[in-house]
Amino acid sequence: MTTNSLLERRFRVLGRNSPLFYDKPLQLVRGEGVWLYDADGKRYLDAYNNVPHVGHCHPRVVDALCRQARTLNSHTRYLDETVVNYAERLLATFHPSLQRVFLTCTGSESNELALRIARECTGNMGVISTAFAYHGNTAAVSQISSVFTTPEKRGPFVRCVPVIDPYRERNGRTDEQLADAYVHDLEVAIDDFERIGVKLAAVLFCTAFSSEGLPDIPRGYFPKVAAAVHAAGGLVIADEVQAGFGRFGSHMWGHDRHGMVPDIVTMGKPMGNGHPLAGVVTTPDLMDRFTSQNMYFNTFGGNEVSAAVGLAVLDVLRDEQLLQNALRVGEYVLDGMRALQKRHAIIGDVRGQGMFFAVEVVSDRQTRTPDATRTKAIVNAMRERGVLISRIGPHDNILKIRPPMVFSTENAGLLLSTLDSVLSDLG
Ligand SMILES: Cc1ncc(COP(=O)(O)O)c(C=O)c1O
Repeated sequence: MTTNSLLERRFRVLGRNSPLFYDKPLQLVRGEGVWLYDADGKRYLDAYNNVPHVGHCHPRVVDALCRQARTLNSHTRYLDETVVNYAERLLATFHPSLQRVFLTCTGSESNELALRIARECTGNMGVISTAFAYHGNTAAVSQISSVFTTPEKRGPFVRCVPVIDPYRERNGRTDEQLADAYVHDLEVAIDDFERIGVKLAAVLFCTAFSSEGLPDIPRGYFPKVAAAVHAAGGLVIADEVQAGFGRFGSHMWGHDRHGMVPDIVTMGKPMGNGHPLAGVVTTPDLMDRFTSQNMYFNTFGGNEVSAAVGLAVLDVLRDEQLLQNALRVGEYVLDGMRALQKRHAIIGDVRGQGMFFAVEVVSDRQTRTPDATRTKAIVNAMRERGVLISRIGPHDNILKIRPPMVFSTENAGLLLSTLDSVLSDLG
């Protein structure tokens, strides 16, 4: 079976619009740690995937999954100690006000539930996201996922604030001035709702603005967002699907990193290292108010196997000190990227922390003009040379580099040298 004939078969059953990475799609057959292998046996360094958070097919996670699958996997309406153990372990990583969890299967489901809680508990309908956000694929969540949803499809209860872009918009302003300016954008959106009689239920932001291009978020911005949202009677929903589980190394959660305590936190992707496990964490008060009016039941969310997997992921993060690893290796990557920036004019900006990096590709450093064409060429050339990365941002010109948390300095060296040679060849 060649990759091409598999592609044709895929088109016939999954359709031509089911997204695939790279000009030449990859047929992966095996993964281990930071390595992926294609059908021809070629090895790729995974510098992109956050779902295999603690590494592809981590033996402790796989063992936990198999052991529990051999023992019991029913559904979520029986008493089970593993599930309670997991919920306790997970909640211990949160602020003392956030001590209840709903377990779900996907980030989309988590954001859908978060919107329901916010609307039910505030009695309001208005929701604000950013103008280039992705939060999931349910009916309500796709309305706020502005990256794929045109304004006409967002309906009367959704407003989007502009994407923050300090790289282009700082204009000599301090973090405080910049944070105030960006919060003003939020207040404009809230006033816009007020004018048509819509009250604010929630603001739902990714705490790293991942799809938006991983901007350097001005210090103090998120606490100011929370204050503005609460003053308008709404709730803050922190989407931690990409930023959570220690991705940035310094903190377990993106909102902690920015000194904000949200009302609701949603999570997914890395939570089960590839197994469909996601969740919503909130306060006892919000959970009680929501569940007293709505029976929330999820057949698979937080079943015995999911809980065993989730526990194993937390164990590996702790035992292999992966947050510390992310910080240490992350610094090495950033230093290397900044050195490349000095030699390659096409690199306009390098941002990031822990195991999440963004590299702005520009055609002109002075004007900071995004160069989407060459960004795409770099991503494809990296893939040809055996390193997997992707691209993000409203202008599609930002290299997105977000490896599994077990990425080592040796792996970082290969990432940097491959990028160096690709950029050199690009001229
Ligand atoms: C920030 C963010 N939120 C939510 C989601 C949706 O998660 P899922 O695909 O598990 O439904 C994604 C998926 O890419 C995401 O990146």
